[in-house]
Amino acid sequence: MPDDQYDVAVLGSGTGGYSAALRAAQLGKRVALIERDERLGGTCLLRGCIPTKALLRSAEVMDAVRRSGEWGIEASGEPDWDGIQAFKGKVVDKLVGGLTGLIKARKIEVIRGTGKLAGGPAVEVEGHGTVRASDVVLATGSYPRLLPGMEVTDRVITSDQALELPYIPGSAVVIGAGAVGLEFASFYRSMGAEVTVVEALPRLAPLEDEDVSKELARAFRKRGIAAHAGAKVKDVKDAGDHVEVTYEAGGRTETVSADVCLVAVGRGPVSQGLGYEEAGVELERGHAKVDGQLQTAVSHVWAIGDLAATPFQLAHVSFAEGIAVAERIAGIDVPEIDYIGIPRVTYSTPEVASVGLTEAQARERGLEIEVERFSMQGLGKANIVGEGGMVKMVAVADGGPIVGVHMIGPHVTDLVAEAQLITNWEAAAGEVASLIHPHPSLSEAIGESALALAGKSLHAP
Ligand code: NAI
Repeated sequence: MPDDQYDVAVLGSGTGGYSAALRAAQLGKRVALIERDERLGGTCLLRGCIPTKALLRSAEVMDAVRRSGEWGIEASGEPDWDGIQAFKGKVVDKLVGGLTGLIKARKIEVIRGTGKLAGGPAVEVEGHGTVRASDVVLATGSYPRLLPGMEVTDRVITSDQALELPYIPGSAVVIGAGAVGLEFASFYRSMGAEVTVVEALPRLAPLEDEDVSKELARAFRKRGIAAHAGAKVKDVKDAGDHVEVTYEAGGRTETVSADVCLVAVGRGPVSQGLGYEEAGVELERGHAKVDGQLQTAVSHVWAIGDLAATPFQLAHVSFAEGIAVAERIAGIDVPEIDYIGIPRVTYSTPEVASVGLTEAQARERGLEIEVERFSMQGLGKANIVGEGGMVKMVAVADGGPIVGVHMIGPHVTDLVAEAQLITNWEAAAGEVASLIHPHPSLSEAIGESALALAGKSLHAP
């Protein structure tokens, strides 16, 4: 085999790309991984999930310090931005180092440079030459979008700049109440900032179940975050020493001033100027169109992760897609991914997590359903932790399977793992109710919801 001929060439080393590369190598393939960034890891590791969750851990500690008296501890302190940044950097460096080591250990060839898809298939890498492969996996990811006519300035920023901002803003306007907006709004508030959230759709976390959005609005209000839903941004002005954000809500026009404006209105696919369309890959609003197997319109060219026109832009989805594609390339028969069964998680305070159908989606599908809402207020462990919350279960009526679990509160991003087993294995409430949950634990919220749904709750009214 000539030097530049591989079994698999992967374009992009984010979660999707590296998982495809690692799995393909594990299955005995000769793999090239092409990356233009200095470091491997892509959005999740370098600019997304990991550094933002590190910041949110610092936020959690700050909140605990502020509330320490509630647990009988006298603690006081202020955020130290350099220290927070150092912690974030240490976590990222360690994980990037680990990934780089894994890639090397699997004998994956890392090729540095910007790659462009070519016929064959092949990838033309700037400064390197042509990389030919039997299969090419496109995993070029996404970037934070801005609103039309807007540009990044010192004060109008996206999550990319927010991670590197030289100071903690005293006030912030966050545009968008999806996962990015909610997490940063929560972070800034924990750091002591005055925070305003402006969301165009009628509720915060608009993709979540309506009851979760209501609880979240209540919790944010209690935290002193000003959140406006159904509010359309009309203008964002960097006035030099502050920003002015003008929005329209309920027929009124309002202007808020702040130190920074964080724009969190979604992520767009990285697909321009990369030769995709020229090579025959079809794009849909910039995302690569794929079939159920994740193959593009071009045979032996696959697309995964945020680039692919699949339902969620989530690292764990990219991870699963990367593995599935590597296995298909190796001739393994892999079932299509069931996107409804994938957990969704937002690491704000309070945390939000869900899996399966919302109440509205279940009704839209014509399902006859029963719904149970369990408040964590009476739960021993929630009182010890010092945070309330809610679990909502959606089940097919008359003892049918639980089709959706929607949660808000402490550690629900971990609890959703149990919820995922419940919905994906189509367990009925009666079956879950018969499982004994550890006491005192937050997982009892799931056990109690199932007990209530099965008509056996002792604690719910
Ligand atoms: P998003 O699409 O989830 O949310 C953007 C929000 O901005 C929407 O609710 C939208 O209605 C609103 N919006 C758009 N234009 C607006 C305007 N002009 N005025 C006011 N609001 C406006 O996108 P987001 O939060 O930027 O996240 C990008 C992707 O990354 C998502 O797929 C998200 O799920 C994922 N992500 C996941 C995380 C997690 O799993 N914890 C964390 C962060 C991001």
